[in-house]
Amino acid sequence: MSTAEAPVLEATLDGGFGVYVHWPFCQSKCPYCDFNSHVRHGAVDQPRYARALVRELETLAARTADRSPRSVFFGGGTPSLMEPATVAAVLGAIDRTLGLPGNAEITLEANPSSVEQARFQGFAAAGINRVSLGVQSLYDAELVRLGRRHDAATARAALAFARRTFSRVSADLIYARPGQTLEAWSAELTEMLDLAGDHLSLYQLTIEPGTRFFDLARAGKLVVPQDDLAADLFELTDALTRQAGFARYEVSNHARPGGEARHNLVYWRGGRYLGIGPGAHGRLAQGDRRVATATIHNPEAWLAAVEANGHGLEVDEPLERADIGAETLLMGLRLAEGIDCDTYDRRAGAPLDAQRIRSLAADGLLEQRGRRIVIPDSARLLTNAVVRELLP
Ligand SMILES: C[S@@+](CC[C@H](N)C(=O)[O-])C[C@H]1O[C@@H](n2cnc3c(N)ncnc32)[C@H](O)[C@@H]1O
Ligand code: SF4
Repeated sequence: MSTAEAPVLEATLDGGFGVYVHWPFCQSKCPYCDFNSHVRHGAVDQPRYARALVRELETLAARTADRSPRSVFFGGGTPSLMEPATVAAVLGAIDRTLGLPGNAEITLEANPSSVEQARFQGFAAAGINRVSLGVQSLYDAELVRLGRRHDAATARAALAFARRTFSRVSADLIYARPGQTLEAWSAELTEMLDLAGDHLSLYQLTIEPGTRFFDLARAGKLVVPQDDLAADLFELTDALTRQAGFARYEVSNHARPGGEARHNLVYWRGGRYLGIGPGAHGRLAQGDRRVATATIHNPEAWLAAVEANGHGLEVDEPLERADIGAETLLMGLRLAEGIDCDTYDRRAGAPLDAQRIRSLAADGLLEQRGRRIVIPDSARLLTNAVVRELLP
């Protein structure tokens, strides 16, 4: 059988399978954030949302061939605002419908406020074994500027408490902030590396359309570091994390050996994931197709749809092989391990353009390692441009 005729499903059975659960509520909206997050002043009816999440899970689980997810990820929004009973209800339903292996990685994104720390033990009892803590900065003035509700002392305490409570802990920091110098970032990251568990997500601040920072930037009232400084900050980040025993395995993600986020690897390696909750995306193995799903963003509209129809899907479509190939490039080339050209061929049904690979390699933008292609560290900040060049 030629690669063009190979069934799509066969070509997507690698990469693993995980479940994503979106909790869309936050206590306030941070001025840089364009995630699907909403502030509700009245109490959120958690038992009702829990029932809807379970119902949508049951609907989608009945459609997909995958079982035994290797990971579950509660993302947001602010999932640490969930009651532990809500988390437990969802995990119980995942186990009932799909079978949840004892060694699955089960992550919850948490904000470091004291209210949320009070729930950590309840989350651990519900089955959470990994927490991803949104620290963002270790300086009080920066936290105020980022619109955060916690101060640096609370973040340090939350990290220490999380490390005592969960077997694995990650923390997020945002750098390349307005006015940030190399010296200031060096001091902040060095302190973070002392406090860190097995994983760090270090994001350069991006100014997203529709956010308050976007309006400020457009009005000239907020200026982020430009190319040269951003590149120096990126290199400094690499050097300091490496010295501390962390490897950058993805553009913004660093782990001690074995500490990589297994759930996110499912996305980057082109695996399948079942996504439930408002605004969740999924990639399901259905028959011999890879199906893209996305649910309604607005929480109340999603809730009403699930209660009426058993799901809140607004996108539900099989992907063409060319789309699967494009996703493989977009996601896989973010990884330090890059992508395997044979896997790409099987998924896309056609090989990559060898001439373009050679020319990118000659320009130092791509490395060929046997059958793998990898973006070298020196070209990391050009990842999107390299991917665009390779897209058929
Ligand atoms: C879903 S969000 C946040 C989870 C949690 N609600 C919190 O705020 O801690 C995941 C992470 O994306 C990062 N992030 C969000 N918007 C960003 C932006 N505009 N630029 C860079 N990083 C961003 C933050 O580090 C954040 O912790
Ligand atoms: S950064 Fe986190 S807490 Fe802030 S609005 Fe976005 S999701 Fe909510």
